[in-house]
Amino acid sequence: MRDEVQILTKFGIRFAPSDGTGAHPIVPDARPAGIRASVEGSLRRLRTDHIDVYLQHRQDPAVPVEEVAGVMGELIAEGKILGWGLSEVDESTLRRAQTVTPVAAIENRLSMMARWHEPLLPVVEELGAQFIAFSPLANGLLTDTVGANASFGDGDYRAVMPQFRDYGANAELLALVRRLAAVHDATPAQLSLAWVMAKGAVPIPGSRKPERLRENLAATDIVLTADEVADIDAALDVTAVPEVFGGTKS
Ligand SMILES: NC(=O)c1ccc[n+]([C@@H]2O[C@H](COP(=O)([O-])OP(=O)(O)OC[C@H]3O[C@@H](n4cnc5c(N)ncnc54)[C@H](OP(=O)(O)O)[C@@H]3O)[C@@H](O)[C@H]2O)c1
Repeated sequence: MRDEVQILTKFGIRFAPSDGTGAHPIVPDARPAGIRASVEGSLRRLRTDHIDVYLQHRQDPAVPVEEVAGVMGELIAEGKILGWGLSEVDESTLRRAQTVTPVAAIENRLSMMARWHEPLLPVVEELGAQFIAFSPLANGLLTDTVGANASFGDGDYRAVMPQFRDYGANAELLALVRRLAAVHDATPAQLSLAWVMAKGAVPIPGSRKPERLRENLAATDIVLTADEVADIDAALDVTAVPEVFGGTKS
């Protein structure tokens, strides 16, 4: 079983108590001793002797990325991890990290609502790494299944995400996604994921439902041509895209 799966997990943050809004602020901590404790804890909990890809969840301003990359190199030499990467990383940090220990993957937010990391795609390709796109469905907004009257329960982060605050403001964007999906006989979720893949990134949609997992996996059957992607991007550029969690349209 272990040889048939690849395990990616992360290190380098803890959560502070909620400020009352429901969100738990992230506290970065990449001190080398903490990284070592994290990897040992993950190996023990996962009951395995190696992690395929180990990602730094957020940069720690107190610990230079070169120092983190050095620890990653040691863990690779020890066989505890096979490769490493960074989440929510910018180009300069990525390039600095690469000079110490080559990076296998980065994990940044990317969706039709969150396009500000697109300039990193060619950089990641140049470095021979992989771009993993998190929240590729804009936390579910792009699936066009949430609706204006949705209510979110306790602990559901969507309650504090800007894209769900004024649902009607997404009307133009969702109409575009619906129209594009119909062209490919696909669901809005599948079309959104196909767009991410056409950009050269690997989307990791989250779902608690097996039927949605199957629906999302079927997005791999949709091939968007370069011309189609260019047309979609041009349409997105002139479409009202409301603020999305994690940033704003730029
Ligand atoms: N590196 C980071 O800092 C970071 C930050 C955020 C997230 N992530 C990772 O990214 C992954 C996905 O991100 P995410 O969960 O924030 O957002 P997402 O994948 O954009 O959206 C997930 C939401 O979409 C719904 N959904 C998924 N497929 C659907 C479908 N086919 N039809 C209708 N609704 C659908 C899910 O609801 P149901 O569960 O009800 O299906 C869920 O509410 C997570 O697993 C997480 O590990 C990483």
